[in-house]
Amino acid sequence: MSAVRKIVVLGAGNVGGTLAQRLAEADFAQELVLIDIVDGLPQGKALDIQESAPILEFSTKVTGSTSLEALRGADIVVETAGLARKPGMSRSDLLGKNVDILRGHAQAVGQEAPNAVVIVVTNPVDVMAEWFRRASGLAHAQVFGESGTLDTARFRWFVAAELGVSPRDVIGFVLGTHGDTMVPVLSLTSVNGVPLTQLIPAERLQKIVERTQKGGGEIVELLKMGSAFYAPSASQAEMVRAVVNDEHRVIPVTAAVTGQYGFRDMYLGVPARIGRTGVEAVYEVQLSDGERAALQRSAEAVRQDIALLPSA
Ligand code: LAC
Repeated sequence: MSAVRKIVVLGAGNVGGTLAQRLAEADFAQELVLIDIVDGLPQGKALDIQESAPILEFSTKVTGSTSLEALRGADIVVETAGLARKPGMSRSDLLGKNVDILRGHAQAVGQEAPNAVVIVVTNPVDVMAEWFRRASGLAHAQVFGESGTLDTARFRWFVAAELGVSPRDVIGFVLGTHGDTMVPVLSLTSVNGVPLTQLIPAERLQKIVERTQKGGGEIVELLKMGSAFYAPSASQAEMVRAVVNDEHRVIPVTAAVTGQYGFRDMYLGVPARIGRTGVEAVYEVQLSDGERAALQRSAEAVRQDIALLPSA
């Protein structure tokens, strides 16, 4: 028996489509709906995923729709809609267009699924999470976003590749914004407890930090026609799993801060405990002076973008 009744994925592009596939295969919900404005796209991808059910043995019913009424009664909504970056663009360059796209979605969620937990993926994600919450009228705890989950996966992979160890054994956090000023927290990163700073020389570590900060851009430059979707959808599925199974996972997400790290009235990438009701707690961890200063710069970048938001 699936753990929740209904999950809705907004946006049937590369991220939404791949996420829908992962969620269906994991059998997380009785019903999975893919919504997109382009007629045929959500219906086609949904049917294609559904037809894999006999082989992959999942029982989730997968449908596609162009109507936001299909949000009705959703337990979990993942917002993937909006424009993605092209080479040379920053995530902040997407702000104006994506504000318009998300306004209608957020209002529809407020009406049709006011009890849903919402995971925002659209960039610039820290700002869009704040925007979605404002425009939907949902509680802060109900709305959070992907950032550190994806950035940390990239960081862990780069460390694992450098050391030739299993990526599963690399533990760490990337905090701050999902942008070039994100903060991979070296002081909290280890290979199953062995501090990273004992394993990798400082200048190599700095290269890994920089590659992590530009991780999304590296894929954009390679693809030339869109941004990443395999690792993003994997990290989103991890967040959905934490909600579906009420796992109380402690993972880095973009969440509303209420004074932690000295910030409030904004969303920022922080370690948070995620369960069936969304964000259950935000953790404040001890940072080095350098990391604290970097987090300050990162938060400042988010604050500047939040100031550009219209009133909901
Ligand atoms: C990335 C985009 C999706 O980091 O933000 O790949």
